[in-house]
Amino acid sequence: MSHPLLRVGDLHAGYGRAEVLHGIELDAPEGSVITVIGPNGAGKSTLLNALMGILPARGKIEFMGQPIDEFTLEERVMLGLALVPEKRELFGTMPVEDNLVLGAFRQVRLRNARWREQLDAVYELFPRLKERRTQQAGTLSGGERQMLAVGRALMSRPKLLMLDEPSLGLAPLVVQEIFRTVSALRATGVTILLVEQNARAALEVADHGYVLEMGSVSLQGPARELAGDARVIDTYLGAARTAAAVA
Ligand SMILES: Nc1ncnc2c1ncn2[C@@H]1O[C@H](COP(=O)(O)OP(=O)(O)OP(=O)(O)O)[C@@H](O)[C@H]1O
Ligand SMILES: [Mg+2]
Repeated sequence: MSHPLLRVGDLHAGYGRAEVLHGIELDAPEGSVITVIGPNGAGKSTLLNALMGILPARGKIEFMGQPIDEFTLEERVMLGLALVPEKRELFGTMPVEDNLVLGAFRQVRLRNARWREQLDAVYELFPRLKERRTQQAGTLSGGERQMLAVGRALMSRPKLLMLDEPSLGLAPLVVQEIFRTVSALRATGVTILLVEQNARAALEVADHGYVLEMGSVSLQGPARELAGDARVIDTYLGAARTAAAVA
């Protein structure tokens, strides 16, 4: 078998002297959707920020077989990593299209015309963004802002797209749309690392899942098996199960 696209080994990260991640092991095979679920404060965002190079980390991070733990954020973007951060960090007073284009330029400084092609690809994936290309980003709905954040990350043509809680704060129908987008993206060959508190939806769309608790992986396996695991059901799928039982 070929290398996984991303291989993480014994990864430690934290803030100052407070260690938050205590030796994470995680693989993302090419073309797969991997999800990391876990409670508030488990270290999910810390993990994505460490992988992206926003936060210093110690341990092994390999991308396409190459160690990248010494690489800067910009070098990682060049190689094909992209992150949609939990705080979407859009330019609220700028039009949608400027957010997309600037997103690409800010991180990658594309010198050729590929960005225009990529802009068309993003508009194809999110026709709503095309309709609203001249609207100020700050006036978009929650779901549209999320699409814009994903679209902006896609402007760098990533091989690995990391999504930090894309369903956060969105209505159920919009959440469905976001998860449909994840499936559509996977069909284009992008590998996806999805951090979610919506464990049910995440395990439905993912191939493989990791449960992160207090900075360590407490459980991992094929998503379908995790969704049937008694501990996962009790802790992460319990509310939905109760609702189903009541219905
Ligand atoms: N900038 C920071 N400085 C100090 N501690 C931080 C910082 N950011 C996060 N932490 C701490 O690190 C731990 C993990 O936080 P993290 O944001 O990674 O959790 P999370 O799993 O993403 O949670 P959530 O589901 O609420 O987003 C928490 O205890 C948090 O308080
Ligand atoms: Mg988080």
